Amino acid sequence: MKILIISPIDAGAIKVLESKYDVIFSPNPSREKLIDLIVDQEVLIFRSGVDVDEDLMERAPKLRLLIRAGSGVDNVDLEYVSKRRLELVRVPEPGAKAVAEMTFALFLGLTRNLIEADRSMREADWAKYRLSGYLLIGKTLGVIGPGNIGGRVGSMGNAWGMNVIACDRKYTQEVANTLDKKGIRLTTFDEVIETADFISLHVPLNDTTRHMINGEVLKRVKPSAILVNIARGGVVDEAALLEALQEKRLRGAALDVHEQEGKGKLSPLAKLDNVILTPHIGAMTYDSQKEIGERVIEACLKHSPLGV
Ligand code: MLT
Repeated sequence: MKILIISPIDAGAIKVLESKYDVIFSPNPSREKLIDLIVDQEVLIFRSGVDVDEDLMERAPKLRLLIRAGSGVDNVDLEYVSKRRLELVRVPEPGAKAVAEMTFALFLGLTRNLIEADRSMREADWAKYRLSGYLLIGKTLGVIGPGNIGGRVGSMGNAWGMNVIACDRKYTQEVANTLDKKGIRLTTFDEVIETADFISLHVPLNDTTRHMINGEVLKRVKPSAILVNIARGGVVDEAALLEALQEKRLRGAALDVHEQEGKGKLSPLAKLDNVILTPHIGAMTYDSQKEIGERVIEACLKHSPLGV
């Protein structure tokens, strides 16, 4: 079986795949190179940062299996995938643990001024009395999208003594009951936006969520609110967020995902102090990537146990 891997995945998994299959590992290739490489491939393994569109897949007549080594499929032409009946395997669970933990790293980084504290220490500036922060305990955590990741974030917030509310596209009694067992109260988008001290985004990027957090929405958040986008760039209108932060309409924001991603891209928010920016590392723990690698191997073995 011919496998093309176009994103960095666990090195151990690549070794196992190479021992069984005909593997090309070419992380983040140029479009030109990708078009060249994909022609006779049967399996494509990828993460975020590459466009798996109709034009690309059309060039691979033998393609039968797509493995998304992670969760989001906003970079895949799903309509074409189902029209051509290609199999698409996602591996959302292992990364969810890492993303949920990272969400709390960002909450704490912002509320406890960790970036500034570190910077001041490196300049021998003992900034202790400038760096008072805020507690998480007793605060309202608003989860937008309480699914695989958001549900975990909610449970963790509950364990930290936060009052956890959430909103979901599907407001059903069943969803409400499931969340209730995790200590999460299902409510409306408006209540989350208007009452949460910590607003945490965990929705996929699609036509209904693009710029879900826009200028109008940002006019309604509490001035003490913290916004974390660890979902997808594009869910937040970054120009509107910049304006809201500059006008002190919210206390701070942390973004792990950005409207423009990749080397050489500078976020418009980079000029602000009350912002933490990270390069889409939510799922980047060795533990999660190892587990994702194991699931990728399983998916390949399921398709071709004998390697042919
Ligand atoms: C994901 O959707 O799983 C994350 O974006 C991680 C990634 O693949 O880079």
